[in-house]
Amino acid sequence: MVFDAEAIRAEFPILGRQANGHPLVYLDSAASAQKPKAVIGAMTRAMENSYANVHRGLHTLANETTEAYEGARRAVADFIGAEPAEIVFTKGGTEAINLVAAGLGASLKAGDEVLLTEMEHHANIVPWHFLRERLGVVLKFAPVTDDGRLDVEGFKALLGARTRVVALTHMSNVLGTVNPVAELTRLAHAAGALVLLDGCQAVVHEAIDVTALDADFYVFSGHKLYGPTGIGVLYGKAERLAALPPYQGGGEMIGSVSQEAISYADPPHRFEAGTPPILEAIGLGAAIAWLSGLDRAAVAAHEHALYAHVRDRLNGANWLRVLGEAPGKGAILSFTVAGAHAHDVAQILDRYGVAVRAGTHCAEPLMRRFGVTSSARASFALYNTAREADAFVDALTKTQAFFA
Ligand SMILES: Cc1ncc(COP(=O)(O)O)c(C=O)c1O
Repeated sequence: MVFDAEAIRAEFPILGRQANGHPLVYLDSAASAQKPKAVIGAMTRAMENSYANVHRGLHTLANETTEAYEGARRAVADFIGAEPAEIVFTKGGTEAINLVAAGLGASLKAGDEVLLTEMEHHANIVPWHFLRERLGVVLKFAPVTDDGRLDVEGFKALLGARTRVVALTHMSNVLGTVNPVAELTRLAHAAGALVLLDGCQAVVHEAIDVTALDADFYVFSGHKLYGPTGIGVLYGKAERLAALPPYQGGGEMIGSVSQEAISYADPPHRFEAGTPPILEAIGLGAAIAWLSGLDRAAVAAHEHALYAHVRDRLNGANWLRVLGEAPGKGAILSFTVAGAHAHDVAQILDRYGVAVRAGTHCAEPLMRRFGVTSSARASFALYNTAREADAFVDALTKTQAFFA
């Protein structure tokens, strides 16, 4: 079945606008995706009709809002093949990883190893550096090949008896590489390590089944998944969450509190101190319901076709360097233009209405691996069209001419 991107655009009001006198060509969805009316409407309806704090009221609005919030948790659980009690709402993917790192840190000691990869986002590096600074935990980085694949033999060589945690991205936000995470999880478990997968990019483009992946933890953000900002998801296997100490203290995460002692609530509430992101959870639930109504295999094929079209048209451009050409990669094109700084490239593209990201993409170790200080990145989403792919290539060709 062919996916009709032109038709779906009508559901994204923002895509009808202009930028600098040109039709907006939004190619920055890997940073944050635009929102369909289904999400905007669900959040607006909640605020207009049924809003109160959750879990603490006995009145109608509190009960309705609690049901909507817990309904969103059930929707997330169904979406990734988990149980609702295994879903913790956080404020984003970053907070979810921090929560796990801080919790696991309670049982790590100097010399224990955490195995990451060279293609991690800072969100999956810095929380582990905190443990290095605080506890003397040793960080190892599995290498990336010149074409942007994870070097699996290099990964295996770094996995050892001291490896306690393996934390890696399912899909690189820079290279688009999709890692063989089920296989890597199996290897890590065989070595006795726990596994955290950063699914912030992958969950947007492919169906995720956490049971099949068998990872101990899987994290993602709402705002890249066509949902709102301010909401993220931490999936943890029930027994892993049960063993994790709380991350923050406050209301709703306790069993009881006295002047002498405290006891904690069971997961997931143990990890949701204070008033949670209620409207954002409702928005994420709506995004998931909306996405689940689409043929996701057809969406993925559409995104891949856009990428292939752009890549084909740019083939042979001797002024272009593409970072990441792994087989089966996602629809992300990171590139440098000879003689030009990535920021200048992005600014000139913007004059043609084309929005791309430029900088380190929160992946400085990866930039260093490829010997660059920055790159530009065009990322394709389900609402992008072949017409936009062509507009991007045309604008990029004109941009390059400034620096030739
Ligand atoms: C692979 C990856 N991990 C983690 C994050 C952090 O997500 P957030 O900023 O939504 O917390 C991002 C965001 O760019 C990402 O692409």
